[in-house]
Parts: sequence; C-alpha cells; structure tokens
Amino acid sequence: MALDHTTVVGVVGAGAMGTGIAQVAATAGHTVVLADATRGATQRAQANIAKVMEREVQKERLSRNAADEIMSRIDYQWEPLVSDLSAFRKCGLVIEAIIEDLESKRSLFRALEGAVSSETVLGTNTSSLSIASIASACEHPERVVGIHFFNPAAVMPLVEVVPWLGVTPTIPAAVHALMLRWQKIPVLASDTPGFIVNRVARPFYGEALRLLDENIASAATIDWAMKELGGFRMGPFELMDFIGNDVNYAVTRSVFEGMFYDPRYRPSNTQRRLVESGFLGRKSGRGYYDYRDGATRPEPIKDQSTGVLIFERILAMLINEAIDAVHMGAASAQDVDLAMTKGVNYPKGLLVWANEIGLQRVLGWLERLQEDYGEDRYRPSPLLRRMVRDDRRLFP
Ligand SMILES: NC(=O)c1ccc[n+]([C@@H]2O[C@H](COP(=O)([O-])OP(=O)(O)OC[C@H]3O[C@@H](n4cnc5c(N)ncnc54)[C@H](O)[C@@H]3O)[C@@H](O)[C@H]2O)c1
Repeated sequence: MALDHTTVVGVVGAGAMGTGIAQVAATAGHTVVLADATRGATQRAQANIAKVMEREVQKERLSRNAADEIMSRIDYQWEPLVSDLSAFRKCGLVIEAIIEDLESKRSLFRALEGAVSSETVLGTNTSSLSIASIASACEHPERVVGIHFFNPAAVMPLVEVVPWLGVTPTIPAAVHALMLRWQKIPVLASDTPGFIVNRVARPFYGEALRLLDENIASAATIDWAMKELGGFRMGPFELMDFIGNDVNYAVTRSVFEGMFYDPRYRPSNTQRRLVESGFLGRKSGRGYYDYRDGATRPEPIKDQSTGVLIFERILAMLINEAIDAVHMGAASAQDVDLAMTKGVNYPKGLLVWANEIGLQRVLGWLERLQEDYGEDRYRPSPLLRRMVRDDRRLFP
C-alpha cells in the first residue's frame, strides 16, 4: 500500500472538516480534489482557505509563493456532486467528511468505489458511526479505514486512525505514516464507540453534570475547580457551551447507546432540557451561562475543600475511563495519553497523571464513590485493580 507525496488526495464534503483536511493535504504537497453536494460549498471552502493562507503570509509563517502553491494544488469542483464522481478517478486516497448520517455515507462509499481504482484507500472522518457499518456498504470494504481529524483540522494535531475488522492490514500503518508526513500526531484506535477521545472525555462532562444535578456545586464553581485545581483550559460547562449542547449531548447519547447503556456514559436530563429549550451554548446566546449582551457571569464559590471534592471526583472518573479504554483494547496506554493531550488539550495525559497521584489513591476515590452510591457507574476498571494489586504502573 503506497501512500506518498505523489498520491492525489480526494476530499468529499467541503464543510468545516473537509475544508481543513484539504488545506492540510495541500500543505503537505498533495494535489487535492475537493467536492461537495451543496452548491456554493466549495466556493466557501476556497474563500476560507485563502483567508487562512493570507493570515499565514501576514504573520510571516509562509512565503507568498508557498501560499500560492498550496492554494493552486487544490482542484475545487464547482458543480455540486451528484452522481458523477469521475473527478476522484486519479485519487490514491479519498477522505469522506460529509454529514454524519450512515445512509448518506454508505451510498457515497458505494458510488466512490465505482469511480476510483481498486487500489484507492477510502477514509472516513466519522466521529460517531462505526467504521464497519460504513465499510460494509462497499464491494471491496477492505480498503476502508477511519481517519478521524479534530476540529479545526488544520490546527489540531491529533488524528485517530481506526482500522475495522476487515481492513487490509497494511492500510492503517500506511495511513499512520502518511499522517506523520502531514505533521499530524496519529494514534491507533479500535473501532469502538467514541474511538479514544470522544469516549475517554465523556466523564469530564458527565460527572460534572452529575455534580450539578446533585446540587453539590454550581456550574461556575465546578468550572473554577477544574481550571484552578486541574489546570484544564476550560471548565466542563464552559466547554459544553462552546462545543454546543446539541453536539455534546448527541455524542454522549451515541457513546451511551454504542456501549449498550453502560451507566458510566448515562446522559443528563439537565443537558437534554437545555437542548430542548434551545439553550445550545454560545451559538444560541444561552447555555449553562448567559452570553447575551449585558448578562453577568455568576461567581464561583472558591472553597478549597469543595474544589478538591469536585476535582478528585471528575479526575477519578476520567482516569478510570482511560484505564478501562486500555483494558478493553480501545488503544495503547501511550496513544490514550497522546490523544487526550493532543486532541483536547488536557494538561496532562490521564495515565501519567494517575501514576503521579498513585494508582492506589485513585482506586480509593472510586471505591468510596461506588460505596456511597452503590452504582455500577463508579466501578473501578479491572485493570486498575490489577495494577494496584501487582504494584505496577501504566508507564515504566
Ligand atoms: N465538526 C467537528 O467538530 C467534527 C470533528 C471530527 C469529525 N467530524 C465529522 O466530520 C464530518 C463532517 O463534519 P463537519 O463538521 O465538517 O460538517 P459540515 O456540516 O460543516 O459539512 C458537511 C458537508 O458535507 C456536505 N455533504 C452532505 N452530504 C453530502 C454528500 N452526500 N456528498 C457530498 N457532500 C455532502 C454538506 O453540503 C456540507 O458542506 C462528519 O462525519 C462529522 O461527524 C466533525
């Protein structure tokens, strides 16, 4: 499986993600074919990339020549993509970044197969669908692989490479090597709900919502604790408002369902009501906080012992999730830590953090929660118990 700088890269879907992916591939020296089903989408993509290139030139991070060359390598398809996909014929790799809808993706992959060579690798940027469910639409599903970028794709270094059961074994390694050449940080994730980041990050939101629902602290206080004591750049409620409660709630639901309703991932009715009320966060002017003109931010109660309680409870659940992801083969310990630091800017890898705190102590936090609540949600990962019992660490 040869993927190198001569590979022509196709990108289908010229929305937020497709535009960024096209920019990254062109910057790495590839000729890129970019297409979309909606009229005007590739025009907007071109304008957005031109704006980014202009900024890079202004900031002297790129010469005018280099920027012009990058832009000239993108072959925008101005006509909406309908049934004629012949523009992708010369592509050695096509990355799909269309709407998150299984039937749309399956029919696109079927159509793509008819247009490209039998050697062409087909990647999907899906966040929440299984790679298997998309690949199985193809006559030659073995060429399909997950290539999951983070938003904004041109800025965030992480890429989750996701093989599925039937993939040609050389393809994930070839994509991994290609992502390194694209200056990305690739990690290998199994085809499980949420892959790495969207699974391991769930307790950051879920446990914060649980604390709020139990009236242990306000959103402002929980956000303060996670920033002040945890060193997170944003608190969970600020982050949910930033991401959009509709998007965040949809990811939580999809992981909850994908994990066959494991209580660790249970969504919160508080968030559901916000979504139903149209309180989506920053983009709608209201979420957990009020972003409308003249609104004031509620003050946190900066009480150290409440702060510690909040921080330790959320961190315990995050670490447990990270360890269990390793336990269940979702990814290696190294890749779990890389994913959380490079995909969502966590201040430290959760497993390195666990080692620093001491696995025994983390286990103690979880056991107390499980005893207090009697809920399966707080069960410590068997791997955590085993590591403590054998006095082992996750990293040497
Ligand atoms: N936005 C994120 O934070 C993010 C992060 C990682 C992955 N993703 C995934 O990337 C994909 C795209 O997300 P996005 O945020 O860029 O969405 P978006 O809505 O910004 O863009 C999607 C584009 O696909 C086009 N499209 C829809 N159906 C099409 C079809 N059949 N053929 C061609 N084009 C079609 C739309 O016209 C639109 O321009 C989704 O699978 C999403 O889950 C999104």
